[in-house]
Amino acid sequence: MSEHTVSTQPIEGQRPGTSGLRAKVKTFQQPNYLENFVQAVFDSIGDISGQTLVLGGDGRFYNREAIQTILKMAAANGFAKVLVGQGGILSTPAASCVIRKYQAFGGLILSASHNPAGPDEDFGIKYNIGNGGPAPENVTEAIYARTLNITAYQILDCADINLDEKGKFSMGDMQVEVIDAVADYAALMQELFDFDAIRSLFTQDFSFAFDAMHAVTGPYAKVIFEGLLKAPHGTVMNGEPKDDFAGGHPDPNLTYAHELVDILYGEDAPDFGAASDGDGDRNMILGNHFFVTPSDSLAVMAANATLIPAYKKGIAGVARSMPTSGAADRVADVLGIDCFETPTGWKFFGNLMDAGKVTLCGEESFGTGSDHVREKDGLWAVLFWLNILAVRQESVEGVLADHWVTYGRNFYSRHDYEGVDSAAATQVLQNVRDQFDSLKGQTLAGRVVQMCDDFAYTDPIDGSVSENQGVRVLFEDGSRIIFRLSGTGTSGATIRIYLESYEPDTAKHGLDAQEALADMIDAANHISKLPELTGRDKPTVIT
Ligand code: G1P
Ligand code: ZN
Repeated sequence: MSEHTVSTQPIEGQRPGTSGLRAKVKTFQQPNYLENFVQAVFDSIGDISGQTLVLGGDGRFYNREAIQTILKMAAANGFAKVLVGQGGILSTPAASCVIRKYQAFGGLILSASHNPAGPDEDFGIKYNIGNGGPAPENVTEAIYARTLNITAYQILDCADINLDEKGKFSMGDMQVEVIDAVADYAALMQELFDFDAIRSLFTQDFSFAFDAMHAVTGPYAKVIFEGLLKAPHGTVMNGEPKDDFAGGHPDPNLTYAHELVDILYGEDAPDFGAASDGDGDRNMILGNHFFVTPSDSLAVMAANATLIPAYKKGIAGVARSMPTSGAADRVADVLGIDCFETPTGWKFFGNLMDAGKVTLCGEESFGTGSDHVREKDGLWAVLFWLNILAVRQESVEGVLADHWVTYGRNFYSRHDYEGVDSAAATQVLQNVRDQFDSLKGQTLAGRVVQMCDDFAYTDPIDGSVSENQGVRVLFEDGSRIIFRLSGTGTSGATIRIYLESYEPDTAKHGLDAQEALADMIDAANHISKLPELTGRDKPTVIT
């Protein structure tokens, strides 16, 4: 066994995006691509000698090979120990849980979230810091800077570790411990929620379907829902993780989770339906013929938090990403707590949670979480809802109807245009930017434009500034149209248009969101010239 220094050259395009470095598997398989990035991480995060690293991924194609390479590099770079999930698998929230529980220095998570997997699909890697959360921008920028001047990486020349066997192994001077991460995660969930109340819900006339979408949450969901909570066998659908997600697109939304959606909107639909994504951090919540927008889900959680054991004393504050609807703000107002508005991406919530300023966080992109870890957490959100339903003994639709009566309804939708030409996508946003001055005071969609800007955020804890986080058109009545380009795609550009309109009138709460927002959608197309520039007459995905 010997340690090698391998010389290398910088590879372009290794800047982490909204959630780590994402690229095609074929790109990651290029000589030195993975190694350069991992060495850049190890060179940028401080003194790692003698420290513990957590390592795991969503099980997608190339996960196992990447884990073996990273283990050998961790050993050569001086880590004392690596905790790796059995089979090389850790859901993203479980990785965050393990980093915190074992006070690791940080973790490497191998995932491209909900993006399709397989030899011709996507792979990804991101570094999480010791609080269990995604590295903040100053760290990801330092990693990127290092990828631009890297000249060599360190790797141990040794045999692979058997990732399927739990236990402690040596790799040079480093210890590798293969752990059962489902157990640690399930233990944390039992501390937070009233498992007895949820168990008793399953003895009543209550039915539930959970779609793991052939991805990482299957084993976790089976242990928690069918094992600990005694939900009937078969509650968990598509529960065997596959390295290509069975050819699917494990993004829990109305388009990609259609198998579950068909069940919840079919005959004899269950009372409750939920799904999670490739790496287990996203969630979709459905009732019988009913969809809960993620923005509303966050607001309902905030309003009902004291029903949950972990949050029974109340929540410190809430945070939402800027494009997420203002539904949670209304709850925060009534509760007399702060509501923070951050840029898109979970990494912006970490400082607020560490400082004790917020307990619950959410994004419109099917992400909700709390300070129990520092990632969004799909199964946690499902358990939160089950606990609410167990206590309130109402339907999902009933909980929402009641919520809207109290707080009003924020009609909300996101329209995604995927695989658009990059120059056209940039121009769509620029068109709106060019009209910032002239739009102000104009009436669009029957509403007066109050202001337009490029969203910028100053972190209230460390003062760091993040600019250009979305083009906003804000109306006097609180309605909003927001344009953003995705930072997680691996080919072409994705334009996201976020539409929101507030409706206090209960009589109008039954409207379909697309109907309620129709004039806003027209206005968005008109000011951006999106149809003309992209040649698209409808979005790829509507959520
Ligand atoms: C998307 C979502 C964002 C989320 C991220 C990672 O990023 O919009 O809210 O944090 O995935 O799950 P985007 O592609 O928009 O940059
Ligand atoms: Zn994800």
